[in-house]
Amino acid sequence: MGQYVGIDLGTTFSAVAHIDATGRPQIINNERDVNITPSVVAKNKGELIIGEFARKTWGNDNRRGAARFKRDMGTSVKYKIEDLEYSPTQLSAEVLKHLKKVTEDKIGTIQEAVITIPANFAHEARDATMEAAIAAGLNVKYIINEPTAAALYYAYQSNGELSGTYVVFDLGGGTFDVSIIKVVGQNVEVLASNGLHKLGGADFDLALWEIIAKKYLVQTKNSLTMNEFSVNDAEDAKRTLSDRKKVTVEIEREFVDISRIDFEESISSMLAQIEMLCETTIDEAEIELSDITSVFFAGGSTRIPVIYEIAKKVFRKDPISTVNVDEVVALGAALYAAHRSDGSNLSEIQKKSINQLKVAERTSCYFGTLSVGYSESKGDVLMNSILIEKGALIPCSVTESFHTRVAGQTSVNCRITESRAPETNPKFVKIIHEEELELPEGREAGQEIKITYSYDVNQIMHATFKDVASGREKVISLSFVNSGNDSAAINKFLVD
Ligand SMILES: Nc1ncnc2c1ncn2[C@@H]1O[C@H](COP(=O)(O)OP(=O)(O)OP(=O)(O)O)[C@@H](O)[C@H]1O
Ligand SMILES: [Mg+2]
Repeated sequence: MGQYVGIDLGTTFSAVAHIDATGRPQIINNERDVNITPSVVAKNKGELIIGEFARKTWGNDNRRGAARFKRDMGTSVKYKIEDLEYSPTQLSAEVLKHLKKVTEDKIGTIQEAVITIPANFAHEARDATMEAAIAAGLNVKYIINEPTAAALYYAYQSNGELSGTYVVFDLGGGTFDVSIIKVVGQNVEVLASNGLHKLGGADFDLALWEIIAKKYLVQTKNSLTMNEFSVNDAEDAKRTLSDRKKVTVEIEREFVDISRIDFEESISSMLAQIEMLCETTIDEAEIELSDITSVFFAGGSTRIPVIYEIAKKVFRKDPISTVNVDEVVALGAALYAAHRSDGSNLSEIQKKSINQLKVAERTSCYFGTLSVGYSESKGDVLMNSILIEKGALIPCSVTESFHTRVAGQTSVNCRITESRAPETNPKFVKIIHEEELELPEGREAGQEIKITYSYDVNQIMHATFKDVASGREKVISLSFVNSGNDSAAINKFLVD
């Protein structure tokens, strides 16, 4: 019987979960019997290795490995391991391949997997994640947002007793995501979601390394090298500072003292960014602080005491955490995988446990198109018109009419834009797709071009640019991976 699993493909650590025989989500430990696996790829005797040994290898000599590549998913950045270059997608595929093997050794064949991604991952990063999954030989139908997965888990765990407005505060190794969700029973609706996709524990490790290096320089007049004290060593010190007010590290027989306050100062600008993003998210969710029922923590970095203080300060609530903050995303993804499956491999107990779940999400950015408009002061100007608003409930569909500008116009440029704010200036938007629609010759100006954007439950955006008079149209579907695997749709937004 194939298994449905949820995979949290994290910046620093990854985790896999499934629904066990009793119907509860459960982490599947790795080959070392540990719940999380470092998302690190390294080379040993010409072979690629993944996990803890790779993390050690990379920590000792970062030319022999690659880590934290999730941050560059969907970009052209390359990582060099010894003499070969790898894309972030290839490296993620290696991690997934490893997780697949380890999991299948333990629980048998994986029938279907759901992979989680940060809420604010751009289209390219989503596509790249799907590509990595396919390259790893996984059957992935859905990708789901990490905060949604975490919220699903908390909602599930409460046995349907949750009711209210909740904050999911997820601070992991490489990203910070904050989402405000409404939960009634086991129905989850995301009101607003924001993220900083280059802020997390890995940045804290570097900040701590820097202050240790500074102190070391003062004490010994020597510059600290990564060989003497690696980023992994700084991470260990950081973890100690979550439990204790002071840590002493030994470097080349020299003792360097670091206090929790030193560490907090070194990351203060990042803490300010976290706080600001929380405030923005409250505004976007259009709620009052008094509406918030609870704050849920996810991600290993929420174990840092000052993070707790910050969350408490902005939301005026004591955040709720579980011992397994680094597992909640994978556990939620496992629930979702089983929930969205056809259920053929689920027992009656498992089905009963899963079927109560519901999720509703909203778009996390604006989608628009570029067209030439007229302004009194500037004459003809290119401007961005928003069709789908950020925060629109999914699924949704919007149609607007535009018109050709000149007589004899034989084509229109179909451009789909994405932006984080409701921009009209084309400079501030990203064009995510562009192609021409050819028009019949010899017509007058002012021909109607109807544009429809629809976001379906599988988080695929369908755009239609239609010349009404001739019926000619361009139909564009975004977020399908060009792999020939048509079932591989990327799913971020869903309504049941
Ligand atoms: N006790 C602790 N104190 C401070 N930081 C911790 C502690 N335990 C774990 N972390 C940090 O949590 C991070 C890993 O968390 P998690 O596994 O949730 O991240 P991830 O899923 O890999 O990252 P992301 O969600 O950003 O992709 C690491 O940076 C790790 O150093
Ligand atoms: Mg994570």
